Amino acid sequence: MTEPGGTQARAPWRATVLTLFPELFPGPLSASRAGEALKQGLWALEAISIREFGFGRHRAVDDTPAGGGAGMILRADVLGAAIDHAVAGNPQSPRICLSPRGEPLTQLVVRELAKGPGVMLLAGRFEGIDQRVIEARALREVSIGDYVLSGGELAAMVLIDAVVRQLPGVLNDEQSAAEDSFARSAGLLDCPHYTRPEVWDGEAVPAVLMSGHHAQIERWRLKQALGRSWQRRPELLERRGLSAEEVKLLEEFRQELKN
Ligand SMILES: C[S@@+](CC[C@H](N)C(=O)[O-])C[C@H]1O[C@@H](n2cnc3c(N)ncnc32)[C@H](O)[C@@H]1O
Repeated sequence: MTEPGGTQARAPWRATVLTLFPELFPGPLSASRAGEALKQGLWALEAISIREFGFGRHRAVDDTPAGGGAGMILRADVLGAAIDHAVAGNPQSPRICLSPRGEPLTQLVVRELAKGPGVMLLAGRFEGIDQRVIEARALREVSIGDYVLSGGELAAMVLIDAVVRQLPGVLNDEQSAAEDSFARSAGLLDCPHYTRPEVWDGEAVPAVLMSGHHAQIERWRLKQALGRSWQRRPELLERRGLSAEEVKLLEEFRQELKN
């Protein structure tokens, strides 16, 4: 589309949300300036049901955690297919998975996203998402704060709202000018999760989780939680303090990284 001055009009910023509850959208995003801007076509929103990619008569999307434990895990194969579908329409857009163990959503991140063509957002549910899909689809994990919501939909809305208000023409000039300005063991980031299939996209569930050895599984999970916290949020370890056993596990994690 070409504007009167001869310049190429920018395609509206586009949010594509993968969710088990597409009916929640646009929800609060239909109100106020974000809602008006949506109607005006300054940005676009598509909520896609993950269930469309589920298996069988019941469109199953989740399964029990590899290695045992509470809750259900969203399957890598279901999510992989859903993501591939969503990305086909927006290949240039960053892919984000809403997660309490992600990098914090900051204004810097919001501004960066507003400069791009849009975003694909995966809203999790249940205990979490099979780790392999996060890695295989290079999902950027983003958290809206150190607390656990029931699902990623509200977090997706928070992110979208924060970005949309940065888009040209959404806020009036006055508002724009005025604008310039977590868990396995308590206090740790969560460990990676896996479920069936045991091998997906050439990637196997870590062998310890299939061992049936509960003490070793717990030890592995605590080590991963310590390691990820150390890598991503070192201040969490300082705040919490580590037992002698945890110091040993973290050292093992560091050594494994080097190997
Ligand atoms: C019950 S939570 C799973 C929490 C996970 N077991 C953990 O402790 O990291 C279900 C979903 O809600 C979303 N969610 C929960 N809290 C969030 C937060 N603070 N920021 C972003 N997304 C969040 C994520 O999409 C997550 O997969």
